[in-house]
Amino acid sequence: MAFTGKRILLGVSGGIAAYKAAELARRLVSGGAAVKVVMTRAAQEFVTPLTFQALTGEEVATTMFGPGSEPLEHVALGQKVDALVLAPATANLLGKMAAGIGDDLLTTILLAATKPILVCPAMNCEMWANPAVQENVARLRDRGLTVLQPEAGELACGAVGYGRLPEPETILEALAKLVTPQDLAGRRILVTAGPTHEDMDPVRFLTNRSSGKQGYALAKVAWRRGAEVCLISGPSHLPAPQGVERLEVRSAREMLDAVLARFPQTEALLMAAAVGDYHPTSRAEHKIKRGSQELTVHLTQNPDILKEVAALKKRQVVVGFAAETRDLEATARRKLEDKGLDLIVANQVNRPDSGFAVDTNEVAIIGRKNLLVRLPLLSKEEVAAKVLDQVVALLPTRQGGKSA
Ligand code: C5P
Repeated sequence: MAFTGKRILLGVSGGIAAYKAAELARRLVSGGAAVKVVMTRAAQEFVTPLTFQALTGEEVATTMFGPGSEPLEHVALGQKVDALVLAPATANLLGKMAAGIGDDLLTTILLAATKPILVCPAMNCEMWANPAVQENVARLRDRGLTVLQPEAGELACGAVGYGRLPEPETILEALAKLVTPQDLAGRRILVTAGPTHEDMDPVRFLTNRSSGKQGYALAKVAWRRGAEVCLISGPSHLPAPQGVERLEVRSAREMLDAVLARFPQTEALLMAAAVGDYHPTSRAEHKIKRGSQELTVHLTQNPDILKEVAALKKRQVVVGFAAETRDLEATARRKLEDKGLDLIVANQVNRPDSGFAVDTNEVAIIGRKNLLVRLPLLSKEEVAAKVLDQVVALLPTRQGGKSA
């Protein structure tokens, strides 16, 4: 989980979206975080501190002075945590932050905070469009704060436009990035994912059971760690991971073209896609009719994308995946050699909880010089993190902070 062992301060200011902060607090806690909630006075008009206390198991901080407030809490709170998230951030809160005002507990904590701050504005669309608010947002961004763009849609006041609090998923991903070490900062990573569809006629195709989950997890975790990620995806129902550029392809040959176009600018390629090995030799122009008892379909071998890429490889780290039902490690090591790879992730696919379409995976990471890392059954995000650790170790170090 992205927030295991992390301490997060959730600042809630007084807009109607304050009720959505309760769901955010719950999701943070279920993601492994310890959450301290600080509410402004207006926020308490919308939601009670008790709601957050029940969800986080911690007392909610609301005032600088008076019973329950510790001396110098305003300095300590924003320094003891790993990150601060303001959701919702009202126009008033943005204005006070931009001007450096500290007239209540939350704004004073923010003045003294030394940890990353994620700002999630939510307000009426006219308010958001107001030049004063836009100038404040620009100032906060200039100072290095991450300010999310409110989403478009119907607002609580009935107006339609930009002003909605971003979805919890969007906030959690942005926050996960802020608390994750940026060991892939600025690295250009190319990931392939999903199955391919090889057309037989306008309605039928050959494919496989890949869902894209492992490749999408790699793209997501690489982005969290600071990489610029391009995800070349075969047909998949998964949403594009936040911050990631997704190129959608169908067939192995389309995937080859997309990979070759991007490979020269890439520092690491992770080929998690389950690329079809064959395509129907001819694609019928019209739907093939039911007729004789037997139908023979001729298949032609697809290009091996990794082998073609190996010929162009300069300093890139190239990672393949081997989905096998038997002789897993031996077969994977042979593929490592044959395809000229730096690493191969050997994937057990004949267990119900590992491989295609499930959320967990059991893999071994195999590399040059007899590298062998056998991993237990893990979530696909945890597998992605382990694979990326090996990639980081192989990436050439950069000179003068520029890409190698
Ligand atoms: O040889 P095999 O298909 O088992 O190798 C699997 C690895 O090769 C995966 O990383 C897969 O993405 C890649 N592959 C490829 N081109 C193909 C088939 C597989 O690059 N035509």
